[in-house]
Amino acid sequence: MSPSTSSSSAAIDTSSPVKTMQDLISSLNKTMGDGGLGEDPYTVRQVKKLMQSYISQSNDWSQYAVYHEGTRYTRNLVDDGNGKYNLLILVWGEGQSSPIHDHAGSHCMMKLLAGELNEDLYAWPKHKEPQLHLKRTAPLKTNSVAYMSDKIGLHRIANPSNGAKAVSLHLYSPPYNMCKVFDEKTGAAVQSSCAAERLKTPAIEATCSSSSVYTYSSSNVQAAGNMTSQQQQQTAAITSM
Ligand SMILES: [Fe+2]
Repeated sequence: MSPSTSSSSAAIDTSSPVKTMQDLISSLNKTMGDGGLGEDPYTVRQVKKLMQSYISQSNDWSQYAVYHEGTRYTRNLVDDGNGKYNLLILVWGEGQSSPIHDHAGSHCMMKLLAGELNEDLYAWPKHKEPQLHLKRTAPLKTNSVAYMSDKIGLHRIANPSNGAKAVSLHLYSPPYNMCKVFDEKTGAAVQSSCAAERLKTPAIEATCSSSSVYTYSSSNVQAAGNMTSQQQQQTAAITSM
């Protein structure tokens, strides 16, 4: 699953550069073909390059950046990759963080679109030393892509800012509905749902009374108003890790 070695597989179509989220989705589908991301490290690297080539522009992704005030960070489905992957936009409130979690055997790529995020990387708990060992903490850099998998370890993502939200783009392949979350002190793990809540129009209409779409402007993520009906159809909020 490591992207560090090469082999032959599908190549990126350089005649159609990735400028918009729809360009990115189209290129991801071409690159991953029918199989999604498997064990081929060349395809993993190509997908990472594609994610990197998308330059964050808030007016392109703000329609997916739905945030529910007063709740935890939100996970918004951008595209389900015809079952090969999930592409999500996460919106992190001030000071919010994920639990420490694994990735259910899937590849994970994450790209900071706006604000600040830190990644805490942990080793898997050992039988005789169950307390989780923090290997490093590192900031995600805007527009760069970080790769994560169970072979690397466990991690927690956190917005360190008390004054600004953060927005990130995540790709998971194969997509998964359940992962494990871990207690830092004991290493104990429990299964947690991370299924996409595919909100259809009636449910979204009920939900969106307390929902806002956020846009990013230079130093902060600001409320831009409630979702339009088009955005409601495009966006499925995922509320659990
Ligand atoms: Fe993760």
